[in-house]
Amino acid sequence: MSKALRLDRLLANMGYGSRRDIEQMVRAGWIMLDGERLTHSEDRIALDPGLPQRMTVRGQPLDPTPGFALMLHKPLGVTCSHKESGALVYDLLPERWRRRDPALSTIGRLDKETSGLLLLTDDGALLHRVISPRSHMPKRYLATLDRPLSGAEGEAFARGTLMLDGEDKPLAPATLEPLDDLTAYLTVTEGRYHQVRRMFAAVGNHVTALHRDRIGALDLPADLAPGDYRLLQSDGIDAIFASRRRVTSA
Ligand code: URA
Repeated sequence: MSKALRLDRLLANMGYGSRRDIEQMVRAGWIMLDGERLTHSEDRIALDPGLPQRMTVRGQPLDPTPGFALMLHKPLGVTCSHKESGALVYDLLPERWRRRDPALSTIGRLDKETSGLLLLTDDGALLHRVISPRSHMPKRYLATLDRPLSGAEGEAFARGTLMLDGEDKPLAPATLEPLDDLTAYLTVTEGRYHQVRRMFAAVGNHVTALHRDRIGALDLPADLAPGDYRLLQSDGIDAIFASRRRVTSA
């Protein structure tokens, strides 16, 4: 059975205002369900993902109900943080979403100067399933390099013995797929700090551009422009977990 919440609590938790604000919005006739005006802010509303197709607030479809996820094409120059100065990934989303409870958070992070596929959710269980080290979630990056590949990097990354500066545990095996001398896909299953840049530094190279295009079996859609986002439906979430293949040594 789906969970139900009082209308005023549901909309307040979704960032539409205080419970008192919601009461006034109901009184003003601004909230409609299935084409009918809702008249009681204490009415219980069954939480279901289809609610935005049935409910409107001031004539606009309701925002996604709690327990949602989205993919964002993170542009360069924005930070995956709630509170650092400068441009934040949350600035790319509707302003109201910053007041949601539970809060929307990024599923893992990309560096300020890395672009590409970034997932966000307000669902703690989903977040944990993706970022837990036990999930060994494959993440694919397109790296552009300063110096030509020597040919030895693939084996060094696949062996599972590479140590990053300042760490005491070797990296798990990772898969390198060179595209040409200066560009390669690298798929890693961990999420260590600046991992891809540090891996190339460990083999004497330097990453000049980095872009993530895949998490699990979920690809960044070619028609999702930098800065744009799209809600993830259940097939998108399934795609994240569809690729349970571990990256193994060559
Ligand atoms: N590795 C990096 O170096 N940076 C990222 O943003 C992600 C992985």
